[in-house]
Amino acid sequence: AITLKAAATFPIGNIVSANRLSGSDNNFTSILNKEFNSITAENDMKMGAMFTGQNTYDFSRGDAIVAYAKANGFRVHGHALVWHASIPTWLKNFTGTDVEFEAQVKGYIKATVAHFALAKTTDGKSVVASWDVVNEAFTNEALAGPFYAKLGPDYVAKCFTWAKEANSEVKLFYNDYNLDSQTSKVKSVVDMVADFKKRAIPIDGIGSQMHVGYSYPDIATISTTLSPLVGTGLLIHFSELDMSVNRDLALTSFTAERSNAQKEKYKSIAVLYKTIPSAQRFGITFWGVRDNDSWLRGWPVVTEYEWPLLFDSNYGYKAAYTGFLEGLK
Ligand code: G3I
Repeated sequence: AITLKAAATFPIGNIVSANRLSGSDNNFTSILNKEFNSITAENDMKMGAMFTGQNTYDFSRGDAIVAYAKANGFRVHGHALVWHASIPTWLKNFTGTDVEFEAQVKGYIKATVAHFALAKTTDGKSVVASWDVVNEAFTNEALAGPFYAKLGPDYVAKCFTWAKEANSEVKLFYNDYNLDSQTSKVKSVVDMVADFKKRAIPIDGIGSQMHVGYSYPDIATISTTLSPLVGTGLLIHFSELDMSVNRDLALTSFTAERSNAQKEKYKSIAVLYKTIPSAQRFGITFWGVRDNDSWLRGWPVVTEYEWPLLFDSNYGYKAAYTGFLEGLK
């Protein structure tokens, strides 16, 4: 049978952890290798995981992921250099001056991007093709966070500039949620990109996370909000796709009705993605393989009654898989 990566004209990704890749769960790696050709570290390449102290970095788990990718022909998308929700405790509690704080962040970005530029594929390209440079800047939490406070309102541009200085080849993304539904946030991102272009600040792509629901936002809304992002001419990554089906926790089993709605919605998302000009299609990355691996089983409450992904908890192919595959064809 055909696979997702064979049906698609663009990369199809999923998330991994170093533990999972080196563990004994062969079902996980066999589905990953069969269906996908791009990987993102769910947590192992975040600042909170790698920036262990002043000018001190632990790249070991990221390196293990990159080695796996290299050996098995995956592209790696780096996630994420700067995010207010993944800041190591020592840096959160930093007592130095703002200038010293900024030097730490700059040093981290430069060292990390330079380090992950080293692993090359056999045709000489970097295994790590891209980075989410800044994640979720247009939120109240980010605006109240230490990066904004200490590096200043222009911190996003600073981070992109430092990343580019460390590796001029790697693709640099701005990544955020609700870009599938929230017109005002889409406008903020599009305005930022226009400002970057005017000032010659480097940026290559926009990541729209796509944590969507089975009914909301509907596909017309997703399409309407996608259009200005595509209009920037940048690469577009559906970077964290999943689909909650039980946000109100009304269900205690995955009904046929909900399963079918999910299947149809996944199909229309694949069809919509294909309307993006091919040169701008960076790919679609899913935020998990099995339903029971999903972060949505722990958010906003812990529940076993959520089924957001393409594979069930026994690695069985769901109707959602079939729908998405049909949409790719
Ligand atoms: O590994 C520890 C475990 O040892 C400990 O017992 C447990 C107790 O809380 O925590 C475990 O770490 C958790 C980790 O996930 C691994 O499960 C962290 O607390 C938890 O904060 C972390 O959550 C991650 C979250 O980002 C925050 O970094 C999720 O796995 C991950 O799916 C989620 O991904 C984010 C994207 O990066 C950005 N966009 C939204 C997306 C979903 O929230």
